[in-house]
Amino acid sequence: MTMDIEFVRSRFIKHFDGKTGNIYASPGRINLIGEHTDYNGGFVFPGAVEQGIMAELRPNGQQTCNIYSIDLKDMVNFKVDDPKGPTATWARYIYGIVQEMRALGVDVKPFNAAFAGDVPLGAGMSSSAALESCFAFALNDLFGNNNVSKWDMVLAGQATEHKYVGVNCGIMDQFASVFGQKGKLMRLDCRSREFEYYPFDPKGYKLVLLNSKVKHELVGSPYNDRRKSCENVVKALNEQFPDKKFETLRDADWDELDAVKSKVSSEDFTRAHFVLGEKDRVLAVCDALVKGDYETVGKKMYETHHGLSKEYEVSCEELDFLNDLAKANGVTGSRIMGGGFGGCTINLVKDELYDKFIADAKEKFNAKYGHEPQVIDVVIGDGSRKIC
Ligand code: GLA
Repeated sequence: MTMDIEFVRSRFIKHFDGKTGNIYASPGRINLIGEHTDYNGGFVFPGAVEQGIMAELRPNGQQTCNIYSIDLKDMVNFKVDDPKGPTATWARYIYGIVQEMRALGVDVKPFNAAFAGDVPLGAGMSSSAALESCFAFALNDLFGNNNVSKWDMVLAGQATEHKYVGVNCGIMDQFASVFGQKGKLMRLDCRSREFEYYPFDPKGYKLVLLNSKVKHELVGSPYNDRRKSCENVVKALNEQFPDKKFETLRDADWDELDAVKSKVSSEDFTRAHFVLGEKDRVLAVCDALVKGDYETVGKKMYETHHGLSKEYEVSCEELDFLNDLAKANGVTGSRIMGGGFGGCTINLVKDELYDKFIADAKEKFNAKYGHEPQVIDVVIGDGSRKIC
């Protein structure tokens, strides 16, 4: 566990002038259901986790921001108004946030910072959103009198991904990191941005992530291509139905999608087909949760996995194998979590099946891929905050 106040502080003192600053933390996230729906104006169902990023910051009265990544043992310096910014990807997230917070009117002055995290990188748990929200929250507190709203911090994180990193992500990850609350999942309507907290305490079940350790890297990945496929279908819908304005796939129903089947590539059609199905599945899961019907929640999770694997094509052999193992062990629900192309499965498993499932998954995965999956028990935690 690297996200520890004393640990971060000791490194901040060691790498800078011995003075202490303020400490902030922001979490990674899980998502129960609703994948690749955020940039399609649909629904998502995330929650913050206990793991995240912790950073100590202090204005330094110098010319440059000096940022130390404790985990990577790397120091980067940049001027607040540097037009290009650093090249190291981890530092571009922070540089991007500095620019976006300035654009929101925050008078960011040079500062020292050291940060560490315990969200596994590339596991689909949004370590990058945790980093963005942690610095957005910190800069708002240190230089902005906390005048920037939570939603603007979410959007600053998303804009950082788009403009400074090159991932055309939706808003789910940054939203979950900023707005998370202990013990609660959130159903977010990504079109209207309305959301509701859902206390999540499935009696008799556990939520557990199995990290395949296949690193997913959304930068330069087919993630942006998936988004493009959805946009292609929206374009075809607008041409087919000139009297109706489709902003995203959220605005389309099954008949309308069928009507443009011959106008788009079969790949784009299949991807849009997944998105429409996923939109319905999130709503079905919400209803089922209210009734305490975890069997339906689980069934929908398997359907999502199938769609992500066969229609949206963002799975990989290892994730499909973990999904099969879940099924074989009678796990209630299991699916790829996050953007895909590696990372974790999220599993809803009955208490009494948990030990056997984990032991079996470790043994069989190890036999096939030469390493055990990392087991991460999900604890739903708080969003961005000042620690001290
Ligand atoms: C990544 C993106 C999110 C979302 C998910 C898939 O985590 O950052 O915006 O699109 O993939 O649901």
